[in-house]
Amino acid sequence: MAVQKTYTMIKPDGVRNGHIGEIINRFERAGLKIEEMRLEMVTPAQAKANYAEHEGKPFYDGLIDYVTSGPVVKMVVSGEGAVAKVRALMGSTNPAEAAPGTIRGDFGLTMDENVIHGSDSTESAEREIGVFFG
Ligand code: RTP
Ligand code: MG
Repeated sequence: MAVQKTYTMIKPDGVRNGHIGEIINRFERAGLKIEEMRLEMVTPAQAKANYAEHEGKPFYDGLIDYVTSGPVVKMVVSGEGAVAKVRALMGSTNPAEAAPGTIRGDFGLTMDENVIHGSDSTESAEREIGVFFG
């Protein structure tokens, strides 16, 4: 497996509820390296670009409102198979279905308040890194 870069973001609930350190610790323990990191708001333009694939779906407007509702931690993370590794550490989208020991399984509250975002492919990662750090 090649070394990859991925985009990941601790969502407003993860910041508000004090999970930044624990999440970064899990990444580093898994052998991932933090390449870039910023604590700041997501702009509406960034939110729409990041979630363009979901435009028109019933949850889209709420998702954009939610992700722009408070500060987040934007990160570029690298490592062997980083895209899949971050997704595995995150767990399933719905915290109610996410396995214990995953970030969403341990800290997720609702479908919106699911703590963390991670790119779902190397193509998405390249695009999202451009959106947030370009
Ligand atoms: P993310 O993009 O945030 O990393 O999450 P994901 O890949 O696991 O899930 P995705 O399908 O890309 O959905 C993006 C976000 O939209 C919300 N969502 N709500 N109510 C619903 O049916 C629904 N489906 C998705 C979630 O907050 C999800 O993280
Ligand atoms: Mg997604």
